[in-house]
Amino acid sequence: MRVQLHGTAEKWLKEYIDSFRDENGGLHPLMEVKRTHSLRVRDNASQIASELGWSGEQLDCALTAALLHDTGRFPQFAEWGTYYDGASLDHGDLGEKTLMEHFPDEKVATYGRWEDILLAVRLHNKKELPAGITPAAAPLVQIVRDSDKLDVFRLVRMHVEEDRINELLPRIIPSGGYSEALVREVSSERRASYSNVRSLSDFLLVQLSWVFDLNYAPSFRMLRRDGVLSWMERVLPQDASVNGFIQSALHHALLGESA
Ligand SMILES: [Fe+2]
Repeated sequence: MRVQLHGTAEKWLKEYIDSFRDENGGLHPLMEVKRTHSLRVRDNASQIASELGWSGEQLDCALTAALLHDTGRFPQFAEWGTYYDGASLDHGDLGEKTLMEHFPDEKVATYGRWEDILLAVRLHNKKELPAGITPAAAPLVQIVRDSDKLDVFRLVRMHVEEDRINELLPRIIPSGGYSEALVREVSSERRASYSNVRSLSDFLLVQLSWVFDLNYAPSFRMLRRDGVLSWMERVLPQDASVNGFIQSALHHALLGESA
């Protein structure tokens, strides 16, 4: 069995992204965001995996799946000019399809975990995970989902602090309070859908709900070390209708560090 795929995947992804460059070698700034995001998600997976003591094939799978998780973003933007899945298509599904069509077969023919990597790519962005994920694939799916969320927390904060959140999220209103439908949803379900997001406050509330979907103690510790939760607590508007939810999310994150 082949034991190392991560190096091959890194080389392949670079060449695949290069195919979207213009004749001067330029890459659209929003594709550049996804290129660097992919590398940071891989680095997050590396950190989580090392804290969990993963090694060998398990570590290699985690790094490979994390690196390739957003493969679908490149053809999505090239064809539809948007990262809104609702206005184009599901980029996790597209990532899996792209890898099946373009990642060289001979590189994975003897790699026993390629199907698990494809699954982790397909499921990295799903609100609900389907039943029936195998015990071997589950940790891989979970580490990619955690690693991705950690970098999106960081990216959103950076864009808000630099007053350019609309570059990242063109459809949201940077000011304003919470939408009623979203408040109802988070209060009752502890999670929320993007369809109810109107303002930046709404978006940050959805992001905060992600803490209920983090899987690993190292992920919670990284979130605190990055200062993301204390920043959110400062910038989220005070509103009696959501304060209970915010406090329960922060409490959950604290407990998660030692779970
Ligand atoms: Fe993604």
